[in-house]
Amino acid sequence: MFRKVTEATAVAILATLAAATPVADTHIHKAVLSRPNVKPFPYNSGRPQPSSPLRTKSCSVTALGGGEDDAPQILDAFHECNNGGTVVLDGNYTIATALDLTFLDGVDVALSGSIAFKPDIDYWLANAFRYDFQSSTAFWKIGGRDVNIYGGGVGVIDGQGQPWWDGFASNSSLLRPISLVIDGLQGGSMTGIRMINSPNWFNLIANSSDILVSDMVLTAKSANSNPVKNSDGWDTYRSDHVVIQNSVIDNTDDCVSFKPNSTNIVVQGLKCNGSHGISVGSLGQYIDQYDIVENVHIYNNTMSNASDAARIKVWPGVHSELEPILSGGGGSGYVKNITYERYESINNDWAIEVNQCYGQSNKTLCELYPSNMTISDIYFIDMWGTTSSKYDPKVGTLVCSSPEQCYNFHAKNVSVTSPKGKSQWDNGEGTV
Ligand SMILES: *[C@@H]1O[C@H](CO)[C@@H](O)[C@H](O)[C@H]1NC(C)=O
Ligand SMILES: *[C@@H]1O[C@H](CO)[C@@H](O)[C@H](O)[C@H]1NC(C)=O
Ligand SMILES: *[C@@H]1O[C@H](CO)[C@@H](O)[C@H](O)[C@H]1NC(C)=O
Ligand SMILES: *[C@@H]1O[C@H](CO)[C@@H](O)[C@H](O)[C@H]1NC(C)=O
Ligand SMILES: *[C@@H]1O[C@H](CO)[C@@H](O)[C@H](O)[C@H]1NC(C)=O
Ligand SMILES: *[C@@H]1O[C@H](CO)[C@@H](O)[C@H](O)[C@H]1NC(C)=O
Ligand SMILES: *[C@@H]1O[C@H](CO)[C@@H](O)[C@H](O)[C@H]1NC(C)=O
Ligand SMILES: *[C@@H]1O[C@H](CO)[C@@H](O)[C@H](O)[C@H]1NC(C)=O
Ligand SMILES: *[C@@H]1O[C@H](CO)[C@@H](O)[C@H](O)[C@H]1NC(C)=O
Ligand SMILES: *[C@@H]1O[C@H](CO)[C@@H](O)[C@H](O)[C@H]1NC(C)=O
Ligand SMILES: *[C@@H]1O[C@H](CO)[C@@H](O)[C@H](O)[C@H]1NC(C)=O
Repeated sequence: MFRKVTEATAVAILATLAAATPVADTHIHKAVLSRPNVKPFPYNSGRPQPSSPLRTKSCSVTALGGGEDDAPQILDAFHECNNGGTVVLDGNYTIATALDLTFLDGVDVALSGSIAFKPDIDYWLANAFRYDFQSSTAFWKIGGRDVNIYGGGVGVIDGQGQPWWDGFASNSSLLRPISLVIDGLQGGSMTGIRMINSPNWFNLIANSSDILVSDMVLTAKSANSNPVKNSDGWDTYRSDHVVIQNSVIDNTDDCVSFKPNSTNIVVQGLKCNGSHGISVGSLGQYIDQYDIVENVHIYNNTMSNASDAARIKVWPGVHSELEPILSGGGGSGYVKNITYERYESINNDWAIEVNQCYGQSNKTLCELYPSNMTISDIYFIDMWGTTSSKYDPKVGTLVCSSPEQCYNFHAKNVSVTSPKGKSQWDNGEGTV
């Protein structure tokens, strides 16, 4: 059951409780998280976060327990506390049915408990939200206007990934849901939440603007030999003015990835481990589409034990079917004004990788069909650290279709060394 408490009645209830001894209702007594004052820092996305008025009522949801589905009562609480309230989630909830929260307007979510998605694979295959983009699916989606979700460092979102990774090991077409899709949210924040074991990407931020993500901890670890798959930390798509900052990520795929039409993005103060890098792309995957990634500042991050630190990946101008979930090529568009600055590389295979032949194993085809995407105005400033022994003595690779498709690249004060103590570049044919 959820319960609506206005500020006035809450004060009255607390006053009554204080007068009475002993207290029976521990629920009321538990400290409700208050919204943290988190700002984009040191950079914003080019404009400040929109202001968000404080909320004046709250709705708390008592978890049913025993693995019973809390989605319907959580939905009720959002209807009740929409337009100026706080939904208080301080229990351990199970979500077993798809939850559409794209109608929100001026609501906070205080998550000091946990949300776990029941790994009922047959149910989700039939009922998860579906998106055309990269055959994505979702357990739930959040959208609307002015939404702040905060976990005070204790709130947990648990994707229950293991059964999904196990299923994927024997069925590489298995559509595994994304742990959280922010779809069509204008103005909002997500802070202080621990996300664990996502079946697929942890977060997709799509069709959104003015989003701040901060102080998150993302961890994906398999308990057996079936690997964690596609555990991207954050993917941005059709989104403008997004800041992702001050977070710790331990995963096996992109730490952050800028998908088609990601503009005015800042990524700062992340510590990523075990990933595929902070990546632009992949782009140019869909033949009839025009993809843009522009004005991205990746500042003051650390990347360790990853395939790449800084990465830009676009498909060539020809279609390929590399894997059941990885096919495409031929799309057009551009990548422009991307800055990687103050970036520490620790034991990554490549410190820098730029590739216009992504997803295509036949290099001859890439030469015959250059990418239809241009990559320009790219800056690598103040990068230091080490690479792994994988490509030793090379630390970076640049595979461009042609000078017309790749231009205005700058590297300044880049001092990454390979185990042999060298710092060489691979341009596909040798070193430059
Ligand atoms: C939620 O689960 C955690 C871990 O099992 C436990 O410590 C905590 O007391 C539970 N919270 C509630 C409200 O039941
Ligand atoms: C693999 O998963 C897909 C759903 O993503 C399903 O349609 C297909 O039947 C599964 N294949 C097998 C062999 O189980
Ligand atoms: C984004 O908006 C488009 C256009 O309205 C819609 O088709 C799509 O489902 C939305 N969400 C995602 C994740 O693509
Ligand atoms: C990206 O933006 C371009 C230019 O506005 C547009 O043509 C294209 O359809 C957009 N792509 C997506 C996936 O929304
Ligand atoms: C870099 O980010 C870390 C958090 O990872 C923060 O503590 C530090 O102050 C930041 N430094 C600069 C120069 O912004
Ligand atoms: C970092 O990633 C590496 C490689 O995936 C992994 O072996 C290691 O356990 C991770 N480190 C931590 C602290 O989780
Ligand atoms: C490049 O992007 C940065 C933000 O990353 C922005 O401040 C700057 O104005 C952009 N430059 C141009 C020429 O648009
Ligand atoms: C990198 O991976 C090694 C083991 O594979 C681990 O000991 C180390 O802590 C990792 N580095 C970071 C920063 O997590
Ligand atoms: C690569 O593509 C070229 C051009 O179509 C073709 O001649 C060649 O056989 C292909 N190589 C492989 C290994 O498929
Ligand atoms: C895409 O590239 C191919 C060859 O690489 C070219 O034939 C085609 O005209 C290009 N399409 C667009 C829309 O630029
Ligand atoms: C070069 O980068 C290092 C970090 O590796 C930084 O300490 C130093 O100030 C930078 N030098 C210049 C001239 O910017």
